Order: sequence, then C-alpha cells, then structure tokens
Amino acid sequence: MFSADIYLQRRARLQAAGLSGLLLFPGNVDAPMNYRDNIYPFVQDSSFRYFFGLNEPGLAGVIDADSGAVTLFGREPDVAEVVWTGPQPSLAERAASVGVAVARPYAELAALVRAARDAGRTVHYLAPYRGETQIELGRLLALPPDELGAGVSAALTRAVVALREIKGDEEIAEMEAALAVTHAMHLAAMRAARPGVAERAVVGEMEGIVRRHDWQLAYPSIFSRRGEVLHNHHHDQVLAAGDLVVNDSGAASASGYASDITRTLPVGGRFTPRQRALYDTVLAMQLAALEAIRPGVPYLEVHKCAARVMVERMTALGFFHGDADTIVDSGAYAIAFPHGLGHQIGMDVHDMEGLGEDLVGYGGEAQRSALFGLGYLRLGKPLKAGMVITVEPGIYFIPALIDAWRAEGRHAGLIDYARFDDYRDFGGIRIEDDVLVTEQGCRVLGTPIPKTADEVEAAMAG
Ligand code: GLY
Ligand code: MN
Ligand code: MN
Repeated sequence: MFSADIYLQRRARLQAAGLSGLLLFPGNVDAPMNYRDNIYPFVQDSSFRYFFGLNEPGLAGVIDADSGAVTLFGREPDVAEVVWTGPQPSLAERAASVGVAVARPYAELAALVRAARDAGRTVHYLAPYRGETQIELGRLLALPPDELGAGVSAALTRAVVALREIKGDEEIAEMEAALAVTHAMHLAAMRAARPGVAERAVVGEMEGIVRRHDWQLAYPSIFSRRGEVLHNHHHDQVLAAGDLVVNDSGAASASGYASDITRTLPVGGRFTPRQRALYDTVLAMQLAALEAIRPGVPYLEVHKCAARVMVERMTALGFFHGDADTIVDSGAYAIAFPHGLGHQIGMDVHDMEGLGEDLVGYGGEAQRSALFGLGYLRLGKPLKAGMVITVEPGIYFIPALIDAWRAEGRHAGLIDYARFDDYRDFGGIRIEDDVLVTEQGCRVLGTPIPKTADEVEAAMAG
C-alpha cells in the first residue's frame, strides 16, 4: 500500500474529471474454491485498490462527484471473527490509512445508493467481471444482473482508464520490485532447465521464489517445451536435449503490481543453428519494436513494424515469397505470429482489460482489425508517455494452423507450406519485456534478464 497522499491525489484527479453523481467502487469478496471457507488467494479489484488502497475483502468506496465526499463502507470485525482472524484494525483506522475520513457500516451502502437514485442522481459504476460483484451491484441498484451491462458508466470508465494508464513513479517502483523477483525466477529457470528435468520441477523452483516473498504470481506460469501452444498451462512434460522451452512467468508485487516476462531457452544449453536463426529473428522484432515506441505512435503500427521485420527475415529463410508489405497487410504473416505484440500492464497483467478490452486498448482512436492474428492485438491506440506496455513478439509452428490454412489454400502464393512443414516439431519462441513509454521513446523496466542468444546460453551454463 502507498501513503495516504497517493490515494487522496488519485481521488482528487478523478473528482476533477467532470462527472456528476455517485462514483461507486465495490471491492472484491473472497472467492471460495470448493466451499465457503476454503478460498482462493484474495485478489482485490484493481480500480478499488487504485483509489482506496485497501487489500481486504468486503469493502466498497463511494465518491460523491458533486460534493467531493468520500466514504468507505465495510464491517467492523466482531469478536467471533477475531477468534479466527486475530485482532484487526477498525474500519475507521483502515479508512484513515488511505486518507478517507468517513467510514460507515456496509449495511448503509444500499440506502445511500437508493437515496441518490431517488433524487435523480446518476450512480456510476464500472463493468463488473465477477459473479459476486454482479449480484451485489444488482442488489444495490435494484436491477437484474443481466441488465447491469447497459448501465455501466462509459464516462467513469474513460476517466478511470485515463488515470490508471499513466503510471506514477510509485507504480513504476512497484513494477520494478516485481521484476526483481521475476528476474530471479527466470535466472533460476535458466539454470534448472536441463535435459531429463520435469517441467513441473522448474515451475516449482520459480514459483517457490515468489512464495518465499509471500507474493502471488501475476498470472498462471507458462513453462513448456510445447511453446507453440500459446497459453499452455500444463507442466507435464520432461525436458529433452534440443527442445526449446517458452518460459512466460512473472510475480506480482506486494502492492499488487504485475510483471510479465518471457524468455525462450534451448534445453541442453546451446541453440542449434536453425533455432538461433529464428531466435535472432524474434529478438530483431522486439528490438525494432522498442526503437519504434514513442508517444503518439499507435501500437498497431509498432505491431506491424515487428511483423515486417519477421517477414523480411523469414522470407530470406524461405518461409514466405513475395512482397513484404503484401505479406504483412494480407495477414499471411500470422501463420507464424498469431497474437498481438503486447498489452498494457499495471495492477492487472492485461491492465484494465476487465473495463472493456476495445475501450481500453483502442479507445475509439484506432480500429481493431478483423484479420486473424492482428485481431488479437489488445492495444492498438496511440501510445502516451507514462504507459507501461509489454513487447512480446514470437514465432510459432502450430501444426493445426499450418494444416488448416494449407487445406484451404490461404495465402498460397505468399506462404511456403513445404518449408513450414519442415518445422512442424520446432515449437515456439517468444521474448517479452515490460516497457515504460517515455517522452523520448521507451525504457525496458527492471534489471536486464539475459535476452540475446549468447546471454541466454551463458546464463544456462552458469
Ligand atoms: N502472460 C500472458 C501474456 O503474455 O499476455
Ligand atoms: Mn507473458
Ligand atoms: Mn504479456
């Protein structure tokens, strides 16, 4: 948690966004795994946490956009609960710790919301993404949960996105703290990923580092010799010499800020020449993207810049034929790079995606592509100084995709299907860093993690 000043400033900025009515921020509640008291690790709603800081279940914050009054709603722990939880600060103490002067029993929230609605005032709320929040908002607003979507406040959503997408120094520091642990995770994986070692053993090493900080993962770890399966969460294989392993894993910091890093490792410690040629291609894609990033440039264009570098190099290696612009503009390149170049990152690993992926990533300033591959790009709009984004190009050989496209003759003049067939068992390569957009360009956050083929080989040998 940051100092109370940070939350006071954030709420004051939101207050200055020109909205009228009540701004309602329900926090998350505990999520049961299989019965009420056996719960998943608690994850707070990020917008509540951004404005109200507290990382506990069962709270709600309300900002009166007209009067400026701010109220925290929650329950005082009673003695029967304290028996199980130990002593807890009072609600007023918790509110004061984040600069909120007024704390009220949670049971009073419904009456406040009803009075505002009866007076014809707008109650603004963000899109709920959890069933429990939908039910609670439905109760507070006297709406069936399936009618809540129509009432989501576009004005509040835009105001929250405008604030959350520009990171403050305190947020950058948190992300770099997360990255320090992620750095240790990836170095441990580089040392552990040897022939004959089970994937789950390496995952256990990495995740143990996070748990030793009493932190959480920012998202479920991907560590797989089947790296062409983009979100492969299985760790059931044994590493063999000659494999490429995609390691996409990251810690979330104490204040809940995510990191999201991918490195690709050659099992046995050395890239083969054909692995290295494509590894260097992915690295060149990432370095070209980093060169292209600066305020005002749409991330859609940065994605295309990376795709063009890939196409030029893979054409020289015999995978594509013809004009590079045609291969990029037609979407043919997506046979090898079928996902987006990156996304915003902050408290959520895909930051604010719960508020509406198109609104957050495109914001009406850019059009999301209908093309396969480019259509998965989550961030297309112009970049701004202070945004933190991931830059994560990849090359994958996905037999099902190759076969499906060849069967329908898709881009048959541009794609050399025989060449792709030679690489059916290659797997995948992805390189991902977390990057701050600066006035001049960008800065890769965190202590550098071995990234060039030579650096990765040296780290694996060490
Ligand atoms: N780790 C998920 C992603 O890179 O988007
Ligand atoms: Mn990732
Ligand atoms: Mn990512």
